[in-house]
Amino acid sequence: MPWKRNQSLKAQGSRLKGKAAASHLQPRASSPKPFVVTIDGPAGVGKSTVAKLLAQRLGVMYLDTGATYRSLAFAAVRGDLNPITDRSRLAVLARRLRLVLQPTPEGGLRVRLDGVDITTHIRTEEVSEAAAQVSQYPEIRAAMVRLQRRLARRAWTDPRNGMIRRGVVVEGRDTGSVVFPQAPYKFFLDADPEVRARRRQQELERLYGSRPPLAQVREQLHFRDGLDRHRRVGPLVKPAGAIAVNTTHRGAVQIVRLMLTYIHQRKSVSSK
Ligand code: DC
Repeated sequence: MPWKRNQSLKAQGSRLKGKAAASHLQPRASSPKPFVVTIDGPAGVGKSTVAKLLAQRLGVMYLDTGATYRSLAFAAVRGDLNPITDRSRLAVLARRLRLVLQPTPEGGLRVRLDGVDITTHIRTEEVSEAAAQVSQYPEIRAAMVRLQRRLARRAWTDPRNGMIRRGVVVEGRDTGSVVFPQAPYKFFLDADPEVRARRRQQELERLYGSRPPLAQVREQLHFRDGLDRHRRVGPLVKPAGAIAVNTTHRGAVQIVRLMLTYIHQRKSVSSK
């Protein structure tokens, strides 16, 4: 278990503080291949929090692939398309999606579709449900994968200091297995289903101002897990070479510290 082996490097990782750690890993601006770290896992394991924090520490962009499926689902709902039956029109929509993901100074992303800010609109239950459905179709996944690779390759301006950056920490379900199978650093997060349901419940409470019943959230997560794990194309799997991290009893800061330790260790081995 490579992850277990690296546990002993915890202390070393905690010494790699913020900017010093990040500058060591800065991709060169002219690099044709982007620096990519992939983080996959089911809903509610804390991928977004960890990915944002890790991207900040590395000085690269945070890329949320779920936002691309959610934006397509939002466009489908807005256009009165049925996310299950209007398959060919959904595929056309997917290929034409005019999506802009803009990094925020806080390390998140603003999502713009056709110039309109839809950042919060894509988090509703209606859109979550539609996203789970549209992401089942291979032709839609192919269009989204192309879009995600394009987004990862582009240079972007760091909103905190105006510097031009390349490289991404990308999170989703198939980022290490399909979107960036050659990524040098891959992680797979998982957690106890009960903890995941409670995290999702809190997220929904923040969004709607009231707490949905835990049993309902648990059932929805279970249903979407089934869709994610059993689809024919791009199912949720632990990618080959990925480091598994159980987040049930670990906070984001601790997980990111372990990830940085692993990345720096690999980096120094491969540069020898
Ligand atoms: O991570 P999320 O909940 O924002 O993802 C939204 C939906 O998109 C979810 O149903 C899973 C799907 N998705 C996917 O199929 N592949 C990805 N790489 C990312 C998300």
